Formats: sequence, C-alpha cells, structure tokens
Amino acid sequence: CGIVGYVGPKQAADFLLEGMSKLEYRGYDSAGIAVFDGQTIAVQKSVGRLNNLEMKLGSSLPKGNMGIGHTRWATHGRPSDLNSHPHTDCSGDFVIVHNGIIENYLHLKEDLIAKGHVFASETDTEVVAHLLEECYQGDFEAAVKKVLTIIEGSYALVFMSKHDPGKIICSKQDNPLVIGLGEGENFIASDIPAIINYTRKTYILSDGEMAIVTPESVWVMNRQGVPVSKKVFEVNWDAEAAEKGGYEHFMIKEIYEQPKAIRETMSGRLAKDDSSIIFDELKWTKDDLANINKIFIIACGTAYHAGIVGKYYLEQLARVPVEVDIASEFRYRSPLVDENTLTLVISQSGETSDTLAALKEAKRLGARTIAITNVVGSSIAREADQVIYTWAGPEIAVASTKAYTTQLVSVCMFAIYIAGMRGTLPVETIKTLIRGLRELPAQAHELLEDVEPIKTFAQQYGFAEDVFFIGRSLDYAVALEGALKLKEISYIHAEAYAAGELKHGTLALIVDGVPVIALATQHDVYEKTLSNIKEVKARDAVVIGIGLKGDKQLVKYVDHTIYIPATEKYLTPILTVIPLQLLAYYAAVTRGCDVDKPRNLAKSVTVE
Ligand code: G6P
Repeated sequence: CGIVGYVGPKQAADFLLEGMSKLEYRGYDSAGIAVFDGQTIAVQKSVGRLNNLEMKLGSSLPKGNMGIGHTRWATHGRPSDLNSHPHTDCSGDFVIVHNGIIENYLHLKEDLIAKGHVFASETDTEVVAHLLEECYQGDFEAAVKKVLTIIEGSYALVFMSKHDPGKIICSKQDNPLVIGLGEGENFIASDIPAIINYTRKTYILSDGEMAIVTPESVWVMNRQGVPVSKKVFEVNWDAEAAEKGGYEHFMIKEIYEQPKAIRETMSGRLAKDDSSIIFDELKWTKDDLANINKIFIIACGTAYHAGIVGKYYLEQLARVPVEVDIASEFRYRSPLVDENTLTLVISQSGETSDTLAALKEAKRLGARTIAITNVVGSSIAREADQVIYTWAGPEIAVASTKAYTTQLVSVCMFAIYIAGMRGTLPVETIKTLIRGLRELPAQAHELLEDVEPIKTFAQQYGFAEDVFFIGRSLDYAVALEGALKLKEISYIHAEAYAAGELKHGTLALIVDGVPVIALATQHDVYEKTLSNIKEVKARDAVVIGIGLKGDKQLVKYVDHTIYIPATEKYLTPILTVIPLQLLAYYAAVTRGCDVDKPRNLAKSVTVE
C-alpha cells in the first residue's frame, strides 16, 4: 500500500493526490484521503484506481491544510469503498491510514465491540482507530503511545485527530515510513517517490520510532517518548529510480523484498508455542477433510513450480496423494476428480485464465477448492471455496520472485495445517518446522547480503547458449524454477533435470564448458546427487554447486560453490531459489535485456 501525509500552509489535497499517484504501483485496489480544515475532517474514498477517487472528487477537493491519504493493496477485507483507508473511529474524531497487518486485530475487535464500538469495515486497520478513541483521555500523543503498546504486528501508521489541529503523528514497525522535511511544511510518505518533487531532505524512520509532525517541526522519539536524534537523509535518486526504491529494476527490488514478504505471509499464522498453524480464514473442520483422499494442485508458470514443491510438502507431511497439473492441461484431460478430491490452485494474480478455468472445472466435478493467491478479491479468490492469501504485496516485474517464495511458505503452512488435522506429524516435528519457518526471513536476508559472487558468475557465464540445472527431490523442483527464471528474462536456453534422469538422454548435451547449476541441499539424496555431479564433470561441464552452509564435500567436485543457510530440508527451496533468481537477474542485466518486461510475456495472462 502507499501512504501520504501533509501538514503546512497549502491545500493538503493537492499534495495527497499527487503523492498517491506516485505510489499507485504499491497498491491499486482503492484510494482515499482525509483532509482537516481545523474544524471538520472530510474523508473521501473509492474502490479501484486513484482515478476513481479523482472522478468522485471532481473539481471540489476537500479544503484544509493537513491531511492523510492511502492507496490500498488489500490484505484483510476485499477491495471496497468501506474497506478503503482512511479509517475513522465511531465519533469521526480520529482518522488513520495503515500499511501492514495488525496480528491481534480479531481479539481487539471483539473487545471493542463488547465496549460498544460499531465497525464499518472488515479490515484489521479499523481496530486501531477505535482503539485510539478508547485510549484518548484528552492527550492525542499519549493515546497514540498507548495504542502502540497494545497492537501487535507490522505497520506504518499515520494518525490525525480533530482534537489536535496542525499535528500528525506516525510510527512504524517493519513497514517503511519517511518524513519529507520542507520549509514551513512537512510531508509523510511510505516511499520516497511521493515526496521527491517537494523535498529531497528526509528522515527515514526506524522500527519502533514515532514522529510528531507539525508545519514547523518534526519530533522523533521512541515509543516510550525518549527523543531520538535523526540524521537528515538527502535523496539523490531521480524520480524513476525512486519508484523502484533506488533499485535499477522492479525485479531486483522484489528479490530484496523477500525477507519482509515471507514475514508477512507468516504473520499471525504461526501459533505462539509453535505447535500449530493458524488459518483463521479457513472454515473447514476435521470432518470436512476426513474424506479427502487426493489433492490436485493446479497452476501455471512459476506458480506451477510452487505446486511441485507443494506436492512434496503435502505428500510427505500430510500423507495425502497429490497430483500437480498445468492448468491448461488439467481441463482437457477428463481429470479424475470427485467430492473427495481437494483442488488447490495457486496464482499470484488470481486472474490467470487457464487457472481460473481449471478451478471452475474442478468445482463442476464436485471437488472442494482452495486458492493460494496474492491478490485479495481477485477472480480466483472469489471463485474458490476457501482462500489463503500470500500477502507478498504487489509484484510488478513479469518474472515472479517474491510471489514464488511466499507461495512456498503458504503451501508449507497449509501442509502442516492439514497434517495437524490428520494427525500425520508428531507435535515435535511440527514445532521444528515452525521454528524453521520463523528463521526464514533472517536467513533470506543473510543470502541477499553478499551477491557479488553470483554477479561474477552471471558475468562469466551470461553469454552461454545453454545452461542446465540439476537436482533431486526438492532440489529438482527448485531447479525447474531456476531454469524458468533464466529463460524468461535472459533468453538463455535453460533446462532443469532430475539429476538421476540426466543419464537417460540429456547427458548427450553436456559438453566441454557447458554451465551446469547443481543443487545439492537434500541430505537423503546427497551422495546420489554428488555422483550425478561427477558424471557431468567427467564431460567437462562447468559446475556451480549450491549446497548447505557447513557442507565440506561439495567444493571438491564443483568449480564454484554458493552456500545457503542450513535449515530444515523442507524449507530449503525457499532459500535455494534466491541465488537462482539473482543469477537470472544478473545474467539478464549482463546481456542488456529488458529485465522487468521480457519480450513476448505478460504478468497476468487472461487469455487461454
Ligand atoms: C504468466 C507470468 C508468469 C506467471 C504465470 C502464472 O505467464 O509471466 O510469471 O508465473 O503467468 O501467473 P499467476 O498470476 O497465475 O501466478
């Protein structure tokens, strides 16, 4: 989502709308503004693109010298006028905008309803506005501080109160927030593009900080109220680079967003004692699932590759037979589906026509259906009986990265959830897996800290004609995605093979100097994978081995190595794919390709 705020001598609405237009790529489900003229706060919002809001407002923009605005990327609650931000309390005295997820909102909402609060939306955010009303005892600042001690989760929050004209308060935790420092006016934004035309002097807020912003001053403090001295950060990017957060392409920005995206996907879904997965959104009981004897996973492209990993998860953890199908194939092959079949469709956009058609076909045949998707209120989300959202935020680059890793996290949580219902896993195993999941954001971050070796490989091998990816078991599933990434953005011919299958044909193509990326992270097939690596080395391939940190053997058999942090075997794909994404990215850059918009491809394919 995108956030903006203004306080100063000018008409706030002008800045808010312009700033929001620069952030629309962050979310385009709905938009809204709240403008305060010292007497009343006027709130205007509209579902759909910013354009809809602008049309609604026409030429009569609300008047006032301070205001806040928001472009939404829906998480809790479908896109609608009512679910759009800003949100207010019952009295309309407090307005807020929010990015992120309030994890304990359900519990807070129940409490507030019991105290007589009436909710207008389905969002987690609205809870914060009511809570602020509840905590207010004549001191806006004190009330905000109190609220921040109660809410849990991730947020960038901006608060405005009718009781305190000329003052905006904001705070952040795991979501970006910057303050643009002007002359006699100040700006607030979730991202720099919104303010770059007004000022280049900024304070970048850190987690746990809170700022009180007036036209003349910006006070930054921690949540206990202890002042924090901030350095002014001078933005020297141009407007286009700012949109990409200073990165050269959306793809690399999205690769770097993965630690945060993964954290958001898990947010509120891991039981505090690690013993179970919580999917409040799923309405199945144990009995509903008792008769399920088969699962179909259906998807296209990268989402299909996430489905292949999902097969390993669901079969091995939940002990249900799984078939994975390409959506365009499923439909036309009279699939054996009945009411005891569970159909899981995976789609980033939720709009892919092949996947939607397959979902409808599965429903027609009587299957129960569930979708894993990133877009709230998308066609697939509406069509499926149940939905798990990945909460990865908008993905702009055609080549999918953070959508894939968050799909893996979602399907892994789903498999643990089903395993819990079916009693196929000892609690200790569930706990180990959940602890492993908790480590992932930090481990993904660690992987992204040193990309120089990968950049060097990409420059070295970026002009190869063919590249092969090999691996066994879960490594094979990831190899498929690695090869697709390389093909789609760098146009290098790439193939993924189950390492054991190589000798049955493809080995004929391995000749002197052909790059082979060998994934060797799976203990149970490790020795076998090493034998396959030796086979390609014997044909003089150049091998880049990907192994787990601490592996001392791999280095002896390959030309180069990349290590990923050690984790549970089931969780390795979520990390192993990251160097492959980077390799594809830097290969495409080396070859001068249009990384974010590869030729002939589209982000969301709505034709069959
Ligand atoms: C297109 C995109 C792929 C994507 C596939 C499925 O082909 O180029 O990157 O994986 O569609 O998209 P979905 O939105 O259903 O995940």
